[in-house]
Amino acid sequence: MAAGDSFYIATPIFYVNDVPHIGHAYTEVAADVLARWHRQSGDDTWLLTGTDEHGQKILRTAVANDTTPQQWADKLVEESWLPLLETINIQNDDFIRTTDKRHEEAVTIFLQKLHDDGYIYSGEYEGYYCVGCEEYKQLDDLMETPDGDYAGQLVCKIHSRPIEVLKEKNYFFRMSDFQQRLLDLYEERPDFIQPESVRNEILQFVKQGLSDLSISRSSFDWGIKIPWDHSHVLYVWFDALLNYITAIGYGVDNDEFQRRWPATQLVGKDIARFHAVIWPAMLMAAGLQPPKQVFGHGWLLVGGEKMSKSKLTGIAPSQITDTFGVDAFRYYFMSAINFGQDGSFSWEDLAARYQSELANGFGNLASRVIAMVNRYYDGLVPAPAEYTADDLKVQAVVRAAADNADAAIQSLAIHDALASIWTIVDELNGYITLQEPWVLAKTEETRKRLGTVLYTATDGLRALAVLLSPVIPEATAKLWTGLGAAAGLGELTDQVIVDAGHWGQLPVGSRVGTLEALFPRIEVTETAG
Ligand code: MSP
Repeated sequence: MAAGDSFYIATPIFYVNDVPHIGHAYTEVAADVLARWHRQSGDDTWLLTGTDEHGQKILRTAVANDTTPQQWADKLVEESWLPLLETINIQNDDFIRTTDKRHEEAVTIFLQKLHDDGYIYSGEYEGYYCVGCEEYKQLDDLMETPDGDYAGQLVCKIHSRPIEVLKEKNYFFRMSDFQQRLLDLYEERPDFIQPESVRNEILQFVKQGLSDLSISRSSFDWGIKIPWDHSHVLYVWFDALLNYITAIGYGVDNDEFQRRWPATQLVGKDIARFHAVIWPAMLMAAGLQPPKQVFGHGWLLVGGEKMSKSKLTGIAPSQITDTFGVDAFRYYFMSAINFGQDGSFSWEDLAARYQSELANGFGNLASRVIAMVNRYYDGLVPAPAEYTADDLKVQAVVRAAADNADAAIQSLAIHDALASIWTIVDELNGYITLQEPWVLAKTEETRKRLGTVLYTATDGLRALAVLLSPVIPEATAKLWTGLGAAAGLGELTDQVIVDAGHWGQLPVGSRVGTLEALFPRIEVTETAG
């Protein structure tokens, strides 16, 4: 990408039937890391997230809790979903709720257009529906349970709950018209759906043929009214998918819409079909471009199964951040799991990586180097003398790491970006051990060499602070202050990330501060373990 390009990234909007768990936080963090990286590359960046509030699932939850769906949604958004963004330090540019007036109005415009253009007709739906998934189901999406509460009944394979049979007058979207255009899209743009495993699954699905999609419900009224027939409300997925364009001015502010659209969309692989089939078909029908990309990430597994609230394996993000801190949460999920594959969460793995990578690998390195500048140079970053092969190697590692990390981020391989950046941590740790600055400090003859070594280490830390700031914003801000970098270079978040690998940016004479431990030792208690 060239600096200044538009980078619009969106997460799915989350159901407000329940509180967030770490699976939801995972998508948010990934999107936030990508957005921060692009912002620091000078791109015209926009991060959208929000909540999905209509449909039967929310309605039933509200009724079960003796309240109205609107009140329930308001409560969950205020008490759980907005606070989640604070808990995991998300810098979103907007937050859309499907009950927002701006959303409902733009959805109405979109629907009316599809209706006027002949893409919608009235018919009758008879078939299965899973309220947990909010999805019309085929027989092969279901199974018969041999035992338990629902023995002998047909249940949804995902939710393991009895399926419902619907027979309703519905409005249908002519999705079948778009089969060939979708296949052409997937072929012309092989990276439209990522990763490959998700792309293959979608391709197979569409090749089998598409049916028209029922897009309205008439047996309850919690939803957006169909503009030409108020006895129906819009199917919740049709409503929800539109958030990606209603939030950026579709139908209302064309300049803003043109500026942002199309989006990079991160979704869990379980909802990739909605995003890579139904959504582009809807957009095509309205004469709009499909998304830039749909990336289906993997699941967080607990005990080998997709973590979920309904299966009581949900872990609240604050359970982790209260003990390990926000940065550790963000770093752990972005580095330990290959983005695009499933990953097992365990407290042991989290604690082990915290200690070895963040506390010992990165945090100690920063504290030691800054302490030596204080001790040997009264806190002023020394000038380098002549660079030796060892120093030049550090510079080469920094340059390569920055380039490789940027390339990885462009292909959404966040874990690879971190692995590249971490080569700097490893290189600097090895460098310090080898150069032994504490020995160089003993005699006047080696004083110049000491200056070179400590300059090399501090400028290496400068590059690390910049490259890691999208992932661990709090620790890198402390490091930036510790390095005294702001006086000469300005704010950390104003540093151009793609230039981070250019050597020698930290001004000689910068005044370092004292650096508290970036990742203090943690006594893991029973509750966390
Ligand atoms: N409301 C719909 C999305 C509409 S987007 C137009 C929805 N909401 S959800 O709250 O159920 O899920 C939101 C996201 O969380 C999905 O991308 C889903 O894959 C993700 N995750 C839910 N559990 C997860 C894990 N255990 N691991 C990783 N992501 C998980 O679907």
